[in-house]
Amino acid sequence: MKLKKNLVAATMLAGSMTALSFLSAGAAQAQGALVMYCGVQEEWCRAMVGAFERDTGIKVSMTRKSSGEIFAQIKAEAANPRADIWWGGTGDPHMQAAEEGLTVEYKSPKLGELQDWAVRQWEQSKQRTVGIYSGALGFGYNTELAQTNNVPELKCWADLLKPELRDEVQVADPNSSGTAYTLLATIVQIMGEDKGFEYLKALHKNVNQYTKSGAAPAKAMAQGETTAGIAFMHDIVTMIVDKAPVKVVAPCEGTGYEIGSMSIIKGAKNLENAKKFYDWALTADAQKLGAEAKSYQVPSNRNTPVPPQAPKLTDIKLINFDFAKYGSSEERRRLLSKWDSEVKNLPK
Ligand code: G6P
Repeated sequence: MKLKKNLVAATMLAGSMTALSFLSAGAAQAQGALVMYCGVQEEWCRAMVGAFERDTGIKVSMTRKSSGEIFAQIKAEAANPRADIWWGGTGDPHMQAAEEGLTVEYKSPKLGELQDWAVRQWEQSKQRTVGIYSGALGFGYNTELAQTNNVPELKCWADLLKPELRDEVQVADPNSSGTAYTLLATIVQIMGEDKGFEYLKALHKNVNQYTKSGAAPAKAMAQGETTAGIAFMHDIVTMIVDKAPVKVVAPCEGTGYEIGSMSIIKGAKNLENAKKFYDWALTADAQKLGAEAKSYQVPSNRNTPVPPQAPKLTDIKLINFDFAKYGSSEERRRLLSKWDSEVKNLPK
């Protein structure tokens, strides 16, 4: 009897749960949904999702990956796209996707509020990607480990080849990471292709690991797992803000920078919501979420305050980075396969 009573109660509960989940699914459908591939740090991705859901009632399903990985996924899914919006990560694979017709044109009413470099990205991609933030590449080192390993002060890209840094430099793999692709393109632009590859081969001797994600070396450095790490300077600043014994360096030879970008996927199932997100993500308020999540890039909306922690681009010797060339499908593919065959698999 008791068992029967419990069964009845369980059935009623299950029934009302089904009704409830049906109701909430209905509500989500009424507001609509959005599938987002996110290319920045997880904390910032989550903050963007939460704020957009609160502001619009649109339910977001978000996946965080590195720039090159998102590009590969979007390409693989082109016949039946899963995602609607690709937000963040370095601009090069966004440019390549634009050229390969994987993303669509869109002119946001917010364009007039953006910095010139963000609009130039949109123009160069024939309106298929837009700049959302910028930041310079650099490297850092753990000052305690540097002292233990007798590493002299590091100031230049050339210093990363020092024998004291054998197996003590960490950087990502440019196939998966936009940060590491920015390094590859930067070195080639500063030194020329032949000398640049010689440099990368010499650096290989000192590299302990090619990580998947670009910011991983900054974290490893902060945790004392590697003496030096190459990353965007703002990712290293995040570690310093969290009190890691790390110094950030703007290399003396000059350095490249990124234009973090956003694109709408061709064939997006929730196209209207993708446009809503796009416009929203370009607002000054939405862009303030970066610094709140300890991401210290320079925002693309002119009305968003630049976080005081952001490395000052005007104080850094920036090269005249050719985003169109190094984001072109042919050049990006060529450089990556050259790096794979000439650098990655070199014996140490
Ligand atoms: C970090 C940086 C971003 C950059 C991204 C690239 O999240 O804060 O500014 O765009 O890395 O990531 P990836 O893993 O592709 O190098």
